[in-house]
Amino acid sequence: MDKLELNPHSKIKNIIAVMSGKGGVGKSSVTALLAASLAREGYQVGIMDADITGPSIPKIFGIHEGLTTKDDEIFPPLTKSGIKVVSVNLLLANEDDPVIWRAPILNNTVQQFFKDITWGELDFLVIDMPPGTGDVAITVLGMLPLTGIVMVSSPQELAQMVVRKALKMSEKMGTPILGLIENMSYAVCPHCGEKYEIFGPSNGQALADDFQINFLGALPIDPVLAKLADAGQIEDYPGLNQINLGKVIATILQTNN
Ligand SMILES: Nc1ncnc2c1ncn2[C@@H]1O[C@H](COP(=O)(O)OP(=O)(O)O)[C@@H](O)[C@H]1O
Ligand SMILES: [Mg+2]
Ligand SMILES: [Zn+2]
Repeated sequence: MDKLELNPHSKIKNIIAVMSGKGGVGKSSVTALLAASLAREGYQVGIMDADITGPSIPKIFGIHEGLTTKDDEIFPPLTKSGIKVVSVNLLLANEDDPVIWRAPILNNTVQQFFKDITWGELDFLVIDMPPGTGDVAITVLGMLPLTGIVMVSSPQELAQMVVRKALKMSEKMGTPILGLIENMSYAVCPHCGEKYEIFGPSNGQALADDFQINFLGALPIDPVLAKLADAGQIEDYPGLNQINLGKVIATILQTNN
């Protein structure tokens, strides 16, 4: 597959796809946290919501305005901290309208998001992938000039199995894997501070070792994160500085270059 080229109004240094085997493990949350912490580090950041049938990025950031056009250009709206966001939800008349499109249209939409939007100069474009290894994932991995993939897993057996499939797909398609992050790894009791491994013992490090990729860290199940995401205020998450996914990724990329 030939890689797509950006329009003359856009220049992007690093393109990172956030991927998981299945839905519900926190792909969109990790996408949002990564983008928000990169923005906090001072980088110019965009998010492309490639989960066309399950878009959640605008909601997590509390964005309600749509894309705007001027002459032949299409401009994305900005989040509070200045992240450019493109999502199918910004095109719908009603944010809870379902997207009932067949695969060729889904694939086209993702390609247009990439090449027809005026992204301007970005240090990072973070892509929230649809769950799994389906058609749109093949398009993103095959046709976009990705810098690398951040894989999200959770300690559940099923999530582990499907994440292995996603890792193998990335290997097959020759896309570098920047690392694995284990989400919902544990919860902390608010009374005594004890850690509980609710979805079973953490196995992200072992999985990363198995595939010889970086283990980026483990995120706890945090009610504050869920609440802020629901309220469209993920950029205010106090854990952003502690985890600082943005710094972790920027450091990995500097070492790779
Ligand atoms: N670490 C976490 N702590 C608490 N809630 C979380 C965490 N990660 C994700 N969630 C919540 O779980 C749900 C699914 O997460 P989401 O990021 O939408 O997953 P995906 O994009 O993989 O389907 C969301 O309601 C989200 O707010
Ligand atoms: Mg999602
Ligand atoms: Zn306790």
